[in-house]
Parts: sequence; structure tokens; C-alpha cells
Amino acid sequence: MKKIILTGDRPTGRLHLGHYVGSLRQRVELQNSGAYDDIYIMIADAQALTDNADNPEKIRENILEVALDYLSVGIDPDKASIFIQSQIQALTELSFYYMNLVTVARLQRNPTVKSEIEMRGFASDIPVGFFTYPISQAADITAFKATAVPVGEDQEPMIEQAREIVRKFNYIYGDVLIEPEIVLSDNKVCKRLPGTDGKAKMSKSLGNGIYLADDPKTVKEKVMSMFTDPDHIRIEDPGKIEGNTVFTYLDAFSKNEDFEEFLPDYSCLDELKEHYKRGGLGDVKIKKFLVNVLERELGPIRERRAIYEKDIPGVYEILKEGTRKAKETADATLKEVKEAMKINYFDDSALISSQTEKYGG
Ligand code: TRP
Repeated sequence: MKKIILTGDRPTGRLHLGHYVGSLRQRVELQNSGAYDDIYIMIADAQALTDNADNPEKIRENILEVALDYLSVGIDPDKASIFIQSQIQALTELSFYYMNLVTVARLQRNPTVKSEIEMRGFASDIPVGFFTYPISQAADITAFKATAVPVGEDQEPMIEQAREIVRKFNYIYGDVLIEPEIVLSDNKVCKRLPGTDGKAKMSKSLGNGIYLADDPKTVKEKVMSMFTDPDHIRIEDPGKIEGNTVFTYLDAFSKNEDFEEFLPDYSCLDELKEHYKRGGLGDVKIKKFLVNVLERELGPIRERRAIYEKDIPGVYEILKEGTRKAKETADATLKEVKEAMKINYFDDSALISSQTEKYGG
């Protein structure tokens, strides 16, 4: 069986470090591993519109931002097809048929939908399109016969629901669709990177994010004002590691080489943590170290972004070519699906001949 990746993001804003450690970094690794036959990365504008119907301009603007973020982290258009969801009609059509395989009760139980409904304060005024987006997400995944879906942990219920739809479809209509596996980041802290305020997760609405496109000065300011241990007042005081955002970020980003390069008094993160716990290590020092660690990662990303920013028409060409290829694949799957469902009337000569016979022809 072919190994195929399909994944994507909603273009509702630029991508941040939470996206990066939660999934983007891993997508690039998977891409470069050479272990996959095809890789599709989707800018999920149609899904973004399910709760932004009144603000299409925002989605339109952010398609380019997300594309630039993808390219700048190292998604390589020669290895992966980056495409725009709304341009692939087959996805809408598949969603329509999958809707018959899912109950309202099942959608209401989907934990991601549930928490998003709470977050946005929806009741029965929820847009139908938003409520049913797990179904459309199953269409996204299955249209490409994806075997692997690298996403953040919050997407787990979506993949589970897609798997159920695949099983139900194949049971009723025969084996056409492939059950996808979720691929999560293996580093625990990376699964849900907190915001710079130490709260919840990084999000645009909370204003606690560090963005891949932030300039060095902004990154530094954000790190220097990061939440640490509120009881660690004087340098001599013993400090806490748990819930200390700077250490959480160091867990997610620092490598042993970073100590050699930026903080040679320590050989590794554990040593730094021990000193902080004992007391005698100030927040400014660990924050400056974190700035260096982040810059080691963000510097090359920013450089690549700058190159692509100089050629926006070229970026649109990449999207156009990715979309062309994605359309080909999704159309082929839709054809198989319609055959399996026996709604391929004009391509089915057996149908016409048997009915001709029935009427004595
Ligand atoms: N729901 C994903 C997000 O919010 C975006 C998405 C849409 C997606 N369709 C997908 C992710 C299919 C993986 C596979 O970021």
C-alpha cells in the first residue's frame, strides 16, 4: 500500500511556535525522510469559512500567510503539494455523501466540536457547516487515501471520526477508502505549547503567541516578558520548573549543542534546571538563553520567508500547481466512490443493457 500524507491548517491567522512544535516541524521531517509516496498539505479555507462566513477577506489574506509559513519552515514544493481546499470540488461532493453516514448525536459527542462550541458560545444557533466540519475533514483525508495525518493533538477526535466514516463506507459500499493514522509529535511538551503568559495554549485571540514571522526584536520582547515562577523574586530564591513557561519552551526547543554555543557554564538542560531549583539563577539569564535557542531555529525560517516574500506570484504558482495535482487525485477517488455507490449511471453500460432487457429491448 502506498504511504500518503494529508494534513492542513485553517488560514485564520499566521502560524506560531505552537503549530511549529506541535506539527509543522514533524511534517518537514516526514517529508525529508523520503518514506512517503505522496504528500499533500492543504490550506483549509473552506473549513475556516464554516465559522467565518461573514469575514471571507480575513481567510483570503491568510492563505498567503500560511503558504509563506509552510514554505519558510521547509515544506518543499518539489516533494509536497500545497493546495487550497475550496478549489477542489470533489471534497464538497464527498462530504455530501458522507453526511448520510454520520448522526447528529455522533457529531455532538466529538470532543473537539464540543469544546469549540463552548469556546465560541454556540447553542442551536451553530452554523450547520461548522457543526459538520468533521465530516468535511473526513472527505479531505479520504480523498487523498491518506495513510498518515500529522496534526496537533487537538485533532485526534477528527481523525477518529474519519476512521469511523471509512469503516462505515467500506462496510456498506465495499473497500474503497483507506483508514488514516494520526501522527503526533512524540515530545510531550510539544503537544500543547502554552502561550507566553503560561496559560492554556498559544492562540491569536489571547495575544500570547510567538509567530514564525515575528522579527528578532519582537521575539526578544515576548520572551523577556514571559511568565516564569511568580515566587522566584530574588535571584537567590529557589525557583520552580513546573508551570514555568521559559523551561517549558526550553524543553520543546533546546538541544545540548545550544549549551555549548550559548551557555557553556552548563552542559545540558537538566543541569540548568537543578541550578534554578536550588536558587542563584536569575530569570533574565534563562530568558536570554531561550532567545538564542529560538533564534537558532527561527533565523533560517525567517531567511527562507524573505526569499519567498520577494516572489509572491511565484508562491501563487506553487499553490496553483499543488492544487492541480490535488484535484487530479481527489477526482479519481470521487470517481471510485461514485462507482462503489452505484451513482455512476452514464459510465455503467451494464445498467443500461439490463434495463433495456427488462423492457424487452
Ligand atoms: N482542522 C484542522 C485545523 O483546525 C485543519 C484541517 C482541515 C485538517 N482538514 C484537515 C487537518 C484534514 C488535517 C487533515 O487546523
